[in-house]
Amino acid sequence: MKTLFIEQTVNKIGQEVELFGWVDSKRDHKKIVFIDLRDRSGIVQVVGDECFKKLSAEDVVYIKGVVKKRPEKLANPKLKTGAIEIKTKELKVVSKAKPLPIPVQDDGYVIDEEIRLKYRYLDLRRPRMFRNLLLKSQVVTFIRNYLVDKNFLEIETPILTKTTPEGARDFLVPSRLQRGKFYALPQSPQQYKQLLMVAGIERYFQIARCFRDEDPRRDRAYGEFTQLDLEMSFVEQNDILTLTEDLFTKLVKKIFPEKHFTQSPWPRLSHQFVMKKYGTDKPDLRKNKKDRDELAFSWTIDFPLFNKQTEEDYFYGSGSAKFAPSHHMFTAPHPDDIPLLDKDPLKVRGLQHDLVLNGFEVGGGSIRIHQPEIQKKVFELIGFSEEQKKQFSHMLEAFTYGVPPHGGIAPGIDRFLMAALAEPSVREVIAFPASSGGKISVMNAPSEANEEQLKELGIKVQTH
Ligand code: AMO
Repeated sequence: MKTLFIEQTVNKIGQEVELFGWVDSKRDHKKIVFIDLRDRSGIVQVVGDECFKKLSAEDVVYIKGVVKKRPEKLANPKLKTGAIEIKTKELKVVSKAKPLPIPVQDDGYVIDEEIRLKYRYLDLRRPRMFRNLLLKSQVVTFIRNYLVDKNFLEIETPILTKTTPEGARDFLVPSRLQRGKFYALPQSPQQYKQLLMVAGIERYFQIARCFRDEDPRRDRAYGEFTQLDLEMSFVEQNDILTLTEDLFTKLVKKIFPEKHFTQSPWPRLSHQFVMKKYGTDKPDLRKNKKDRDELAFSWTIDFPLFNKQTEEDYFYGSGSAKFAPSHHMFTAPHPDDIPLLDKDPLKVRGLQHDLVLNGFEVGGGSIRIHQPEIQKKVFELIGFSEEQKKQFSHMLEAFTYGVPPHGGIAPGIDRFLMAALAEPSVREVIAFPASSGGKISVMNAPSEANEEQLKELGIKVQTH
């Protein structure tokens, strides 16, 4: 199996090596031809003869050669392999490459995004994109180790499920076995994680894929994105904030050692305060907004439990409904404010917490309602019909069999990385994101279903 160039060549002067990689560039000096050979660990300079003239950029080649020290003046201190080069004994072209439709050596920011996404498998060759995928993998690994060490269980929850109304449109999947019925892809594992607390799991997490049919924005992926979803029993809000802060502080120190925090511990600011002072619930508290390595984390707490309903809240109750949950309908009211649920619902504070980083909401969570009567009251206030209430009867029933008080949070992994790396969009940290119109360009998804498939599902398609 191939190892990385960095391991194979650095400090290996005099050794014979076998290298597999891509031709990054070629410099033809008549009798001597140099190529930069690339793998995911970087570039190594290879010296060859006239046989190298046939090589083109992005060909995959095999080189057998000897590691030589470069003459002092020709060393390149910018490269990890800059002190050495490979003198070729044998060259094999493993696979030829046509000229690429997009360059892959630069950072790629100026290339049209639609074209980058169509040729994403090439776009991901650029070092910046590889670095982003590598960091994401390291972040997820760090999170797993940290939480497992603290007695959390990683548990998968269904992707084919029922709607979790969290503010966006659902993706529906038709059922073949129960014609006319549909699964919904989860907007988050919210209800399942609460049911896991009823099950006595006490500490749950999941690197969870969430699905939301909402317009894409700079910080919002269309279709799907990934959360670190976690939930704990017998906790207070402070426990969730402290754990999350410790996790991300250690994560940043390990994986982004070049970054520094504006403030530590992170300020905990009330919704009322930040709205008044900054006019937003996700203030950018950096001292120097030009500094790419500054991370200003803060908490926004004491949100109102409800906002007035607007047209965007169509999926909540209709008719007499006036209130929409500020976070979601499972967030607990502040215990001091419970009497206000009847008198003045807009004055009730919720036990919601938002994690803010450099002006982005990178996580949200809350202490949950665990009393069926309060949950019913909230359903009433958001105007659920009897039919809608029935959709949540499993939650209300579960809460009658001994439910621990519980709460949690879900930091968005993609949005956190986007903010931490100062990338211009979440799509820069997702391997195959959807482009405009919800298209996954490399696969040209979505696509039409054939007649047979539709017949089996009992579906007739109307395109207008
Ligand atoms: P919420 O809906 O606030 O909470 O989402 C939590 C976090 O997920 C990220 N996020 C997104 N990231 C990229 N693209 C999107 N379209 C997108 N939508 C959300 C954000 C956000 O802060 N179940 C609750 C959590 C809980 O209560 O524990 C939930 O999903 O970083």
